[in-house]
Amino acid sequence: MCGIQGITARRSFRWKIVQWVVAALAYLDYRGYDSCGVAALVNGKWVWLKRVGDSAVLKSALSKTRWLSCLVLGHTRWATQGMVTDRNAHPHFSGHVAVVHNGNLTNADRLRTWLKGMGYVFLSETDTEAIAHLVHYYYQKIGNLRRAVQLAIKDLEGDYAILLASAMEPQVLVAARNNPPLLIGLGDGFNIVSSDARGIIALTRNIIYLVEGDVAEVTPEEVLIFNQRGRRVNRKIYVSLESLGALNKGRYSHFMQKEIHQQPQALRNTIQPVLQRGFSPTLFGKRARKIFGRLDSILIIACGTSYNAGCVMKRRIESVAEVPVRVEIATQYHPILSASPHELVVVISQSGETHDTKEAIKRARAAGHKYVLAICNVPESSIPRASSLIFYTQAGMEVGVASTKAFTAQLAALIILAYTIAKVKKRLSRTDETSALESLRKLPLAARRTLALEPEVQAWARCIVRRRSALFLGMGSFYPVAQEGALKLKEISYIHAEALAAGELKHGSLALVNKRFPVVVSAPSEEFLRDTVLGMKEVNARGGKLYVITDKASNLVASKNIRVIYLPKHDPLHAAVLQTILMQVLSYWAAVMLKRNVDKPRNLAKSVTVS
Ligand code: F6R
Repeated sequence: MCGIQGITARRSFRWKIVQWVVAALAYLDYRGYDSCGVAALVNGKWVWLKRVGDSAVLKSALSKTRWLSCLVLGHTRWATQGMVTDRNAHPHFSGHVAVVHNGNLTNADRLRTWLKGMGYVFLSETDTEAIAHLVHYYYQKIGNLRRAVQLAIKDLEGDYAILLASAMEPQVLVAARNNPPLLIGLGDGFNIVSSDARGIIALTRNIIYLVEGDVAEVTPEEVLIFNQRGRRVNRKIYVSLESLGALNKGRYSHFMQKEIHQQPQALRNTIQPVLQRGFSPTLFGKRARKIFGRLDSILIIACGTSYNAGCVMKRRIESVAEVPVRVEIATQYHPILSASPHELVVVISQSGETHDTKEAIKRARAAGHKYVLAICNVPESSIPRASSLIFYTQAGMEVGVASTKAFTAQLAALIILAYTIAKVKKRLSRTDETSALESLRKLPLAARRTLALEPEVQAWARCIVRRRSALFLGMGSFYPVAQEGALKLKEISYIHAEALAAGELKHGSLALVNKRFPVVVSAPSEEFLRDTVLGMKEVNARGGKLYVITDKASNLVASKNIRVIYLPKHDPLHAAVLQTILMQVLSYWAAVMLKRNVDKPRNLAKSVTVS
């Protein structure tokens, strides 16, 4: 994953550049936060600082230094090759050459052996150091950084976005990308290279997105871009409308807590355009009416929480829009048969940068899919830019690694999609449209009332943290709700958790259940409640402890070993959103009680840009 940042500036900016880069790293931390580093060219020599930890650690370590520099590189790391150590943190150096990298080289071992044979000494275990030496090797031959990089990348296999600088060329940054994104921000007297618009927009809104295979030579005054074949090309300049969002927690202890509580607003913002315009296909893009009119099935592709959102809404879309829906995990999606020309691919991604999802889009296109709809939370990110139709969830910047408000906004987006397709296909009567809109209008308030149950859930968390493992049960659309609950719990509390369709319990996993074993149940009063209750009884008979989220209509009551929370009165169509909110709250409190790093759980990153 990793965040990349670099600035080259005129001399008059030399007081500011190091601070600018470090400030930007705080916005890139979400790409990886196990270690980070910064290097600045000061009086013709590289000085640097690298630390295990996130950008806040680096910032405080830098507080005693005052580097005046016009050429600075910064990096936040998510380790792929080499342990999490100061030494493996980026930038890496080879003599006068410095490099930061996001990606994963598949031929790093071969390169290392060859470079060692050429006399290069490796100080780290990373693949990135091989890039530094390789570029140095070519630089010695031709004496030009950009050309050295162009030669070096011919030897690289795998994914990379790289940013390099040389002490021999004190104004030049050279960037190259093969898969992970890389952007150039055009400033007045300075230019920026970043893995992310968030690293740029505090300083300039004019952005160039490098295309795969591009190599860019960037100085304070000029940006030269060369395509895969080495030809000079012009790339479009976009004016970014993205907003940074405040990196502060307000009155909350963690971003995750804040984001859980922002859900009523995130839902309201996502739904608002529909309440104003009805289920209009223009919400998805100009061509949506035509594409929706012709589609005969839907294929949803996503990873992790976004995948769970697709699974939760599969049945709802099928029943409302009357089209079959398949949901695929992006990495599992390797089509054998060629695609139906009328199948719409719906890609769900909070970040819009997930590598696995981007690769799946390529496979979908190769299989013959013509139309891709992106449901995404980050404007201008890669996935919407590669899609034919776009729906932006309006959850606002999500900082906590565990996705919360983006997930419920995705559910809202999928509901809107279902009704919009139904309307285009003339399967939605006026009355049904009015009642669907009315139902959506009530969702934010229902979410707010659900959040008021936090103290009850907190009490559950106190019991669950005493256990090392938990099961989550659900049926139908509530099985993926249970999956999302289990994912949240394990992700931030590190308690092992697994989700099961309640009917599956007796087919093996019931063996896990013994006295006080915690089983969280999503049990709304809907068509599968009977099967869910049967699963609960099987647990209860073995002394397991049930934590049931339900509603008054289910007639479920608390008893020995059964704890029940009733959702406030709500439209049954909102149950999945409301159930999930309580599961998020449960995981949050479990993680807090276990003193976990809630916003930055171990081994993870917010945006997964490597395979
Ligand atoms: C879990 C979580 C991840 C992401 C997954 C896909 O809380 O956030 O499972 O959902 O990595 O990321 P996006 O949605 O950005 O494509």
